[in-house]
Amino acid sequence: AQQVPDILSPEFAANPYPAYAAMREHAPLIWHEATRSYIVSRYEDVELVFRDRESRLTTANYDWQLEPVHGRTILQLSGREHAVRRALVAPAFRGRDLEERFLPVIERNARELADAFRQSGTADIVTDFATRLPVDVIADMLGLDKTDHDRFHGWYTSVIAFLGNLSGDPAVTAAGERTRAEFAEYMLPVIRERRENPGDDLLSTLCAAEVDGVRMSDEDVKAFCSLLLAAGGETTDKAIAAIIANLLAHPDQLAAVQADRGLIPAAFAETLRYSPPVHMIMRHSAEEVDVSGGTIPPGATVTCLIGAANRDASRYRDPERFDIFRGDLSTTSAFSAAADHLAFALGRHFCVGALLAKAEVETGLNQLFDAMPDLRLPDGFIPVEEGVFTRGPRSLPVRFTPVA
Ligand code: HEM
Repeated sequence: AQQVPDILSPEFAANPYPAYAAMREHAPLIWHEATRSYIVSRYEDVELVFRDRESRLTTANYDWQLEPVHGRTILQLSGREHAVRRALVAPAFRGRDLEERFLPVIERNARELADAFRQSGTADIVTDFATRLPVDVIADMLGLDKTDHDRFHGWYTSVIAFLGNLSGDPAVTAAGERTRAEFAEYMLPVIRERRENPGDDLLSTLCAAEVDGVRMSDEDVKAFCSLLLAAGGETTDKAIAAIIANLLAHPDQLAAVQADRGLIPAAFAETLRYSPPVHMIMRHSAEEVDVSGGTIPPGATVTCLIGAANRDASRYRDPERFDIFRGDLSTTSAFSAAADHLAFALGRHFCVGALLAKAEVETGLNQLFDAMPDLRLPDGFIPVEEGVFTRGPRSLPVRFTPVA
């Protein structure tokens, strides 16, 4: 068998892209002992897995990946139950709800965060902005008290640690389970209160949503809110940091985007292709599945390498190059920055929050450019990416001249 780098090794964590290329080329389907899963890395194979209509490939893996920390979320549902749940939650994240109710929330929170460092001439994009904005936005959309945002951030950190706990550290597992209990203790009374006194917030919308006579229970709403911390928080956080890091590493493209903010959507689309926040997604095979690299047996865990698929040369011209002008990604359709790469997955579980994420990253970037038109990294500073399941820059300590 072809020698394949271990996806859990430090070398892989430091730079997975050479290993991705080797896998796509020589080992498009491999058995990985440590995660006890079959790994697929080619665009066509990852696409096939995502597009399966859950007859052969299910999300049963989330029962052990998500259930202990979130409870039963939309990602664990399938078939009609999943379709109804999507119809219940998705409308709030697109169209008029997004534009009229939630875009102002994003703008307000992005501006407040930028205000904190606007006059200082220095900020860490990761800690001062990227990790704050998505969670602040979700808490604000849900209509939670501003004084509770810090608790929300604490739970967010614990959920992320739980989901990234590759070594199975028992202290992290225990903290995740504690978070599930604390989150429920906080959220369930708020949910009951909103059912009685609905407002113009996302939580009231979720409580009142009804499709074909079906409504979500308190527990369903709570699990969805908990999922939002991870699904909407860490992902968008990494996307904001990555778009800045990619532009800083390509000064000509940074200058072009600053001169024409209309290029921000193209920079976002290319960032999601080149540096997707989520690098790995798992599925469970209910039946035998043929992929280009061979056959996946029934009853197996399948790991899809989004980070590898998004740089497949059979799909993209010059895939290892970050190029917002590449022209093979659309930026205008409703799901612009989505359908042309796999960062939001595809098929039934395609990201519910894709347009919200796009709005957050684009608004965030506009706010950052307004606050720091000449942003730059300290001399000699080279950003380091970290993470294997999710991935993004560790820190981005930028300098800038405060705007008068
Ligand atoms: C699903 C990525 C932002 C909510 C997904 C999936 C991916 C993804 C890959 C599919 C998971 C799977 O099939 O197993 C991203 C990225 C984001 C982002 C890269 C940011 C750039 C958001 C935001 C929200 C969100 C802001 C907030 C609403 C969800 C939900 C699902 C999902 C609820 C589950 C959908 C379902 O099961 O039908 N996301 N996401 N995501 N995402 Fe996102």
